[in-house]
Amino acid sequence: IEAAAKELKAALKQYPNFPKEGILFEDFLPIFTKPELFQKLIDAFKSHLNAEFPKVDYIVGLESRGFLFGPALALSMGVGFVPVRKAGKLPGTCVQATYQKEYGSDVFEMQKEAIPAGSNVVIVDDIIATGGSAAAAGELVQKVGAKLLEFDFVMELDFLKGRDKLQAPTFTLLNGQEESLKK
Ligand code: PRP
Ligand code: MG
Repeated sequence: IEAAAKELKAALKQYPNFPKEGILFEDFLPIFTKPELFQKLIDAFKSHLNAEFPKVDYIVGLESRGFLFGPALALSMGVGFVPVRKAGKLPGTCVQATYQKEYGSDVFEMQKEAIPAGSNVVIVDDIIATGGSAAAAGELVQKVGAKLLEFDFVMELDFLKGRDKLQAPTFTLLNGQEESLKK
């Protein structure tokens, strides 16, 4: 996993002052343009999860960037994939959780019947910043009565201490990122 992580980290592309002044944006999309890197990303999460947990039933991915690799990871593990979406996108009865974004609050939803109570669930997303969106997704998993095994992220802005908000252990594949361009 460490060798893969090093290679994946080298593939990230940095964009200074995006999405706003003073922020160094780490873009992980170049990983997906190279199938061998994409495969390494999936295999790294898969071997971590297989080593850590005897039974995973569902990978829950967060809209939008959690959709880029969550389904591929689930398929490679032979488990289900369930999306958490921004409110108003999913049909049927949904559970809801509110979280704070930079400007105001947002609502996440998950279909109630997608995950049977008692299932073992892992939540995945590209990055944890404040931890608000991941914590809301954790609430959704708890609301359907499933067991949350772990949160898995590709990257972490560790200076924001987002993982302190989360209801389960947190695994980050790549190291924490720089605070900002200004430091
Ligand atoms: C970004 C990122 C994470 C979240 C992290 O998503 O992809 O999902 O923010 O922030 P937090 O830890 O402070 O909640 P964003 O809401 O920008 O939307 P996107 O994935 O649809 O691009
Ligand atoms: Mg996102």
